Amino acid sequence: MSMRTRVFRVDPKSPQAEAIAAAARTIRASGLVAFPTETVYGLGANALDEAAVAKIFSAKGRPANDPLIVHIKRFEQLRLVARDIPARARELCQRYWPGPLTLVLKKAERIPENLTAGLDTVAVRMPDHEVALALLREANAPIAAPSANLFSRPSPTSAQHVLDDLGDLVDVVLDGGPTPIGVESTILSLMDDEPRILRPGGISVEALRRTLPNLVYEPQTLAEDIAAAPAPGTMLRHYSPCARVILFSGEDDAEVYAAMRAEIASHDRAGLLAYDADAAEFSDLDIAIERLGANAEDAARRLFAALRSLDGQKVDCILARAPEKTGMGLAVWDRLLRAASGALVEVDAAPADCPMQRN
Ligand code: TXA
Ligand code: MG
Repeated sequence: MSMRTRVFRVDPKSPQAEAIAAAARTIRASGLVAFPTETVYGLGANALDEAAVAKIFSAKGRPANDPLIVHIKRFEQLRLVARDIPARARELCQRYWPGPLTLVLKKAERIPENLTAGLDTVAVRMPDHEVALALLREANAPIAAPSANLFSRPSPTSAQHVLDDLGDLVDVVLDGGPTPIGVESTILSLMDDEPRILRPGGISVEALRRTLPNLVYEPQTLAEDIAAAPAPGTMLRHYSPCARVILFSGEDDAEVYAAMRAEIASHDRAGLLAYDADAAEFSDLDIAIERLGANAEDAARRLFAALRSLDGQKVDCILARAPEKTGMGLAVWDRLLRAASGALVEVDAAPADCPMQRN
């Protein structure tokens, strides 16, 4: 790319007009703009411009069979990108947009084939971030944007992460500070009779079930680690730092800590990703620890930065305890499992030593 990358610091609540104007000009001129959303930073291009969309795939090193998400500024723009929009999609948009909910719908004719990886469906969302919305308004076009990381690296939650991964492959970076949610949007397909979660994310499955009681979510299983990817973008290996990640799950704190300590002892330099309560248990050890905070919302916000930080500390292995799969914890669990490429150690307390009951 001939042009040097321009980085603009912007107020996330009320972005400076000159920065937005420069970014919008870049979108209209088929360039690439990285911008913050409420979830993670996106790498954006004009969604109706096939050549611009192709630049996203090549900058990220993203396989052509992994479709992108289209961002829109208001509900009326949906008709530009999707067709045969069902009534329940309208209800969902009214309730959750702008926000971290991506809908998979039938694609409109004018959406380029490379954006949807040849599928006849398209993923769409309206981001809840003033910088993203201002850019969408000023560019006056729907914007295709995957997360602005190199393919298979942890998603970027700061402008620095974008620059670390993509350097001068991007024309403009709008730096609006850290992203408030920290994990990507929930992806919901409306292509079958029953609505289906394709990726847990910023809106919880429990919240969606209140609107959609028949919502289907089939959590990934370890079997998928070796199976071919069943649907676009669902390959288990994803969000990977360089170091090997191992997840530990189990009810019994003492058993889980003991298993983690044994693993730590077998490495020269282990790293640990842990909620505050768990981190305290390892404070006697000379290891790199990244705290995920007190709850699942904290963990979502910190997870990707923590993975990048541990990589920077040159650990040879990263251990984490699997979080509860409720609320935002489900998205954190999903990203950790992918970072671990499915490496999950299930620590079960030994069965109680009592005589078998017969009746
Ligand atoms: O929060 C987010 O969703 C962020 C911000 C930037 O908006 N974007 C994001 O994009 O996470 P990306 O590329 O990292 O994830 C896009 C994923 C694909 O990997 C695929 O799983 C799914 O969206 N997807 C896109 N189009 C689809 C389609 N037509 N059918 C099924 N899944 C699709
Ligand atoms: Mg991504």
